[in-house]
Amino acid sequence: MSVIEIKNIKKSFQGKEILHGINLSVDKGDVIAIIGPSGSGKTTLLRCMNFLEKADEGIMIFENEKFELDKIKNKQIGHIRQRTGFVFQNYNLFLNKTALENVTEGLIIGRKMHKDEAKKIAFDALERVGLKDRADYKPSQLSGGQQQRVAIARAIATNPDIIYFDEPTSALDPELIGEVLEVMKKLAEEGMTMLVVTHEMSFAKNVSNKVVFMEQGYVVKESSSKDFFENPEDERIKTFIANIGR
Ligand SMILES: Nc1ncnc2c1ncn2[C@@H]1O[C@H](COP(=O)(O)OP(=O)(O)OP(=O)(O)O)[C@@H](O)[C@H]1O
Ligand SMILES: [Mg+2]
Repeated sequence: MSVIEIKNIKKSFQGKEILHGINLSVDKGDVIAIIGPSGSGKTTLLRCMNFLEKADEGIMIFENEKFELDKIKNKQIGHIRQRTGFVFQNYNLFLNKTALENVTEGLIIGRKMHKDEAKKIAFDALERVGLKDRADYKPSQLSGGQQQRVAIARAIATNPDIIYFDEPTSALDPELIGEVLEVMKKLAEEGMTMLVVTHEMSFAKNVSNKVVFMEQGYVVKESSSKDFFENPEDERIKTFIANIGR
């Protein structure tokens, strides 16, 4: 069953087309790695899918409901956003709030949840990312890896149908990347549906079940991870894998 499907997403900036008609279908439990060279449109695609950018054209089918992206209404966006999580490269935490408050905020404000219930859910979420003992710490008192894990806790606390990640480890010092990838791997094993823009080929190879390769605003290849890494017939993909693996 597909959680989300997009058809023919197009997006231009200042008259220049950046996404040339992207199609993608994400099934329940899929962990899809979106990879490709810098500037190929990966972030723009995720931002269009989460309505941080408005697509110029295209269709989204979210849980069997179909939306035309150039005409979608704020109320519909709100409804879809309630069912999706987003983890950014730079964590986007509230700096003046504790880890716990960062997680409860969206539950209390966005979902009108009672404070005590929100706290309970937030503690559970922090526990799942290994940070229950850091609940009272502010972002400045946490390492980058810990901050990103708080951001992941915030995303899972809402029990989303899918989580989008945009290069969740690329702002981290190398020694902190592993702990974040471990948490993502665990989520994947628990069956979370995830769409992950990443440069971590180990994640694409070992955790994701599908790979989408983008170049210059097109999806050049979409395949199982196994196939992608074992049979990269395309020269451009061979070169990409060889270069990024250094
Ligand atoms: N707000 C914007 N205004 C103008 N151009 C933009 C804007 N956002 C992105 N672009 C352009 O769109 C293209 C795709 O950018 P995007 O950030 O989606 O690439 P990316 O694949 O995520 O790259 P990276 O791997 O470096 O993160 C680039 O040429 C970029 O300059
Ligand atoms: Mg990007």
